[in-house]
Amino acid sequence: MTASSKSSIVTADSECRRPSIDVVTEPHILVLTATGNVGRQLVRQLRAEGHRVKAATRDPRTATFPADVQVVRADLSDPNTLRDRVADFDAVFLLWPLHSGEQFAEAVGVISERARRLVFLGTGGVPDLSREQQQEVVHGSGIESVVLQPSGFAVNTLWWADQIRAGDIVRGIHGELPLMPLHEADMAAVARHALLEPGHSGKTYTLTGPQVLTLSDQVRVIGEVLGRPLRWVENTRAEEAELLRANPNFPDSYIEVLLDGYAALLDEPRPTTTDTIERIIGRPARTLRDWVGDHIAEFR
Ligand SMILES: NC(=O)c1ccc[n+]([C@@H]2O[C@H](COP(=O)([O-])OP(=O)(O)OC[C@H]3O[C@@H](n4cnc5c(N)ncnc54)[C@H](OP(=O)(O)O)[C@@H]3O)[C@@H](O)[C@H]2O)c1
Repeated sequence: MTASSKSSIVTADSECRRPSIDVVTEPHILVLTATGNVGRQLVRQLRAEGHRVKAATRDPRTATFPADVQVVRADLSDPNTLRDRVADFDAVFLLWPLHSGEQFAEAVGVISERARRLVFLGTGGVPDLSREQQQEVVHGSGIESVVLQPSGFAVNTLWWADQIRAGDIVRGIHGELPLMPLHEADMAAVARHALLEPGHSGKTYTLTGPQVLTLSDQVRVIGEVLGRPLRWVENTRAEEAELLRANPNFPDSYIEVLLDGYAALLDEPRPTTTDTIERIIGRPARTLRDWVGDHIAEFR
């Protein structure tokens, strides 16, 4: 879609209180967490289609974006910082990167005071904010809202990148755990459609990768793309916790939560893939093999 066709494709659903976007020329899309895996892809895809994008980060001085992207500061742990960032009729992309859900409702409230549409990517990783609560808050915001509920991200396989660069053995826990790794470009593509098109408001979409793969299967696939056999070796819980503690992305308080979460997944029924991505973006979801091919440099 070109920038010139933009104003004709989006209309507000009848039940929503915001006027149709056709009355506004060139709306902005505000991408919160724009420096992350999904946010950066989303900014790239929106720019490629000629949309005006505002990219939010906590530190605009260090964020690198092309010159035509307006970079703004926003800190979700202080929802007041969002107030001046959301202009009337913006469409906003949000995910929740914090480990507490305390400010979630307030942040959604600030966004809904002015924005026309909110597309939210849900998470199972916030102990005090269930996926159901996230949905309730977002769909209860009073503006056009879309919730995307993703399975695990393919980018999680980068947890093993150091080990893979160092040798052919990957140590981890629960190698038999079946997951459905999702490419960030596909999540961004669904978000782009949900931000721009009519017909999505009020919907919750379950997004999965196209295949069910155990963790040890995922390691095998990475090895196949790299052209060398990789072997999974099972860690004990104590060994895994030690590995996670060495990773600055995981606060100590979160490690047991994460390990409990993974252990609980083992008791759940085998997950099943959805075709939601294909239905919305018009082509099948990218495979883990595709994802590894796109990120091969990180494993070498
Ligand atoms: N990994 C999974 O399997 C999985 C599964 C389901 C859902 N999720 C969800 O996806 C999220 C990760 O998404 P991602 O991979 O795209 O991100 P990411 O690459 O992990 O980057 C985190 C993003 O969050 C931003 N951020 C962190 N704290 C912030 C704050 N206080 N205020 C504003 N922005 C903040 C960072 O921006 P700056 O540092 O530039 O401010 C950065 O853009 C998880 O937090 C979870 O909500 C993940």
